[in-house]
Amino acid sequence: MMKLIQSSIILLILALSGIANAETILITGSNRGIGLGLAEAYADRGWRVIATARNPGRAEELNALATKYDNLTVDELDVTDNDEISALAKKYEGTAIDVLLNNAGVLGDIEKQNAQNIDYDEIKFIMDVNVYGPMKMAKAFLPQVGASEQKKILTMTSGLGSMTLTQRLGRFYGYRMSKAAVNMAMRAMHADLKGEGYVIGLIAPGQVQTELLFASGFRGPGSITVDESVAGLLAVIDSVNAETVGLPINYDGQAIPW
Ligand SMILES: NC(=O)c1ccc[n+]([C@@H]2O[C@H](COP(=O)([O-])OP(=O)(O)OC[C@H]3O[C@@H](n4cnc5c(N)ncnc54)[C@H](OP(=O)(O)O)[C@@H]3O)[C@@H](O)[C@H]2O)c1
Repeated sequence: MMKLIQSSIILLILALSGIANAETILITGSNRGIGLGLAEAYADRGWRVIATARNPGRAEELNALATKYDNLTVDELDVTDNDEISALAKKYEGTAIDVLLNNAGVLGDIEKQNAQNIDYDEIKFIMDVNVYGPMKMAKAFLPQVGASEQKKILTMTSGLGSMTLTQRLGRFYGYRMSKAAVNMAMRAMHADLKGEGYVIGLIAPGQVQTELLFASGFRGPGSITVDESVAGLLAVIDSVNAETVGLPINYDGQAIPW
C-alpha cells in the first residue's frame, strides 16, 4: 500500500513538472564524447533522458547534468553485461521510450586489427560492444519502445563500416567489421518489425573530436566538434521515420552507402 502511494506521488510530481508527458530517450555510453553531448542536448530540449554509463560513480560531467536537469537520470549499464541489460529493462518496464539510442562503442586497439597483426580476442571484444550490445539492447527494450509514439531504435554506425567507401584505406578491421555487422543486424530487425511500427535505423556522427577519434590516430582536417555533430544528429533523429529509414544517415543528412 505504502509503495502504491509512493508511486502515485512520484507520478503526480512528474505530471505536474511535465516530465511524464515528455518524450523519452535512452542513450548508452552517455558519460563522455557524443553520448554526453546528446544527453545534454535532449535534456535541454525538455525530453526525459535516461542516460546510461558503465561507471556512474566516475561520470562527473554526466552527474553534473543530472544535478542541473530534473529530467535527466543516470543509470549504470555496460552493454556487454546481459544481467545489467535485463535489470535496466525491468526497471523501466511500463515506461514508453521514444528513442533507444545505441551510442556506446569502442574502436579497440588499432595495432591489433591490421594486415600485420590480427588479434581475434580484440576483434571479439569490439564485436561484443559494438554489435551484440546494440542487438541485446534492442531486444530487451522492444516493449518500452513499442509503447511509445516514435518507436525508434537507432544505432550509431560509421562510414568505416561502409563497403563502398572502403577503397583506399583499410586498417581498423575489427571496428569496420563491427559497424558493417551492426548495420546488417539493424537492417534485418527493421525488416522484421517495421510492420509493428518500429523504426530501426542507423545514424553516423561524422568525424568527431572525441577520445575515440584521437585514438584512431586521425589528426586531419574535416573533423568536427561534439556540439556540431550533436546539432546535426538531433535533426537526423527527428526526421528519420518509416519512410526515410534505410541507408545510414550522417549527421549532415547525407546517406552513407552500404
Ligand atoms: N568520434 C567519431 O569520429 C565517430 C565516428 C563514427 C562513429 N562514431 C561512433 O559514435 C559512438 C560514440 O563514440 P565517441 O566518439 O563519443 O567515443 P568515446 O568518446 O570514446 O565514447 C565512447 C562511449 O562508449 C562507452 N562505452 C564503451 N564501452 C562500453 C560498454 N561496454 N558499455 C557501455 N558503454 C561503453 C564509453 O564509456 P567509458 O567511458 O566507460 O569507456 C563512452 O561513454 C560510437 O559508437 C562510435 O563508434 C564515432
